[in-house]
Amino acid sequence: MARWPKPPEGSWTQHYPGLGTQPISYEDSISPAFYELERKAVFRRTWLNVGRVELLPRNGSYFTKELAVARTSIIVARDMQGRVRAFHNICRHRGNKLVWKDYPREETSGVCRQFTCKYHGWRYDLDGALAFVQQESEFFDLDKKDYGLVPVHCEVWEGFIFVHLAKQPEQPLRDFLGPMITALEGYPFDKMTERWHYRSEVKANWKIYMDAFQEFYHAPVLHARQSPPSYAKAAQEAGFEAPHYRIEGPHRLISTAGVRAWELDAEMRKPIDEICRSGLFGPWDSPDLGPLPAGVNPARCDPWGLDSFQLFPNFTILIWGQGWYITYHYWPTSHNSHIFEGTLYFVPAKTPRERIAHELAAVSFKEFGLQDANTLEATQSMLESRVVQRFPLSDQEVLCRHLHRETAKWVDEYRRNGARAAQQ
Ligand code: FES
Ligand SMILES: [Fe+2]
Repeated sequence: MARWPKPPEGSWTQHYPGLGTQPISYEDSISPAFYELERKAVFRRTWLNVGRVELLPRNGSYFTKELAVARTSIIVARDMQGRVRAFHNICRHRGNKLVWKDYPREETSGVCRQFTCKYHGWRYDLDGALAFVQQESEFFDLDKKDYGLVPVHCEVWEGFIFVHLAKQPEQPLRDFLGPMITALEGYPFDKMTERWHYRSEVKANWKIYMDAFQEFYHAPVLHARQSPPSYAKAAQEAGFEAPHYRIEGPHRLISTAGVRAWELDAEMRKPIDEICRSGLFGPWDSPDLGPLPAGVNPARCDPWGLDSFQLFPNFTILIWGQGWYITYHYWPTSHNSHIFEGTLYFVPAKTPRERIAHELAAVSFKEFGLQDANTLEATQSMLESRVVQRFPLSDQEVLCRHLHRETAKWVDEYRRNGARAAQQ
């Protein structure tokens, strides 16, 4: 039987008195003007995760990342010294996008020794230095040293690559992450190199989708038909309460208890789960990861389900008690659309059974994610009617409340210090 500490007396929301308890507005998710502010106030002023070091397996590996929200594209590369670097993806000659394959707006990746512009053939080393100019003698006083690629601040934490688009970040990455996130240091992210990736454009504001993964009590309702009827009925009757919510600076955490699926009555399980020994919550047989860092399973749940760390603004690391993890990225493309990326990471399968267990977890995740995304497009379309302006949030929606409050705070601060921020 599951056991976990009871939530402390009183509400979660009231632990954070600055948040208030009143109904909230979603104007921040439907207003084009607010989105224009967010671009500068949030996305150009925070550390943004663009992937993991496994995407750059050797010197010369690179990938591009389209950052529509910041109106730029960047190249992230491992240089010949093994250092991870980032640059704006623009040629210094006449502004061509430097790295792209068949379609200029699509991301690409590969391995090379230099980046060569498709237009007139200027070449750049992996550290950004301009190395070759076609018909150089015909230029006027051109010193190649002045025309390197425009660098982007780039730091790596626990294998996660972050970039910052300001001229000078207000904080180093680790300070920005703060103690709640850095308490994950030592988690074996580097062992989980088997990767499953989904990407989809969702016609909803990025915060609306983040909200869908910041509380889980919708699951027994919205996702009821994903489970056998007897399980769904029991789950809905019991309701759901997460044992731990935490807010620290701009970041958030929700942690939940788990289920030992293999101990449930047979009619509570799906036959496919039984055959594959896996399901939405991951493989039933977990790898031996050794001792885990203090930052995971903060409520000491047994069994432990998952911890979802929401890193401001648009990145989530979700660590499963069964020894695997997922990341979510939400890349805004307009006030009412964004690209959602979900990536699952496992310790590489050594047997066909392990591989099948991973695959079932990956497709189950996709089914649930699609169900959420579908609902959110319906939500977005009606929020835009502005027929209703105030929406009540329950205590378990405390993290949703915080995300909207935090975003508003960054936007207000930017408005107040507009002149200073514009110079950054
Ligand atoms: S624009 Fe790149 S070489 Fe001319
Ligand atoms: Fe959901």
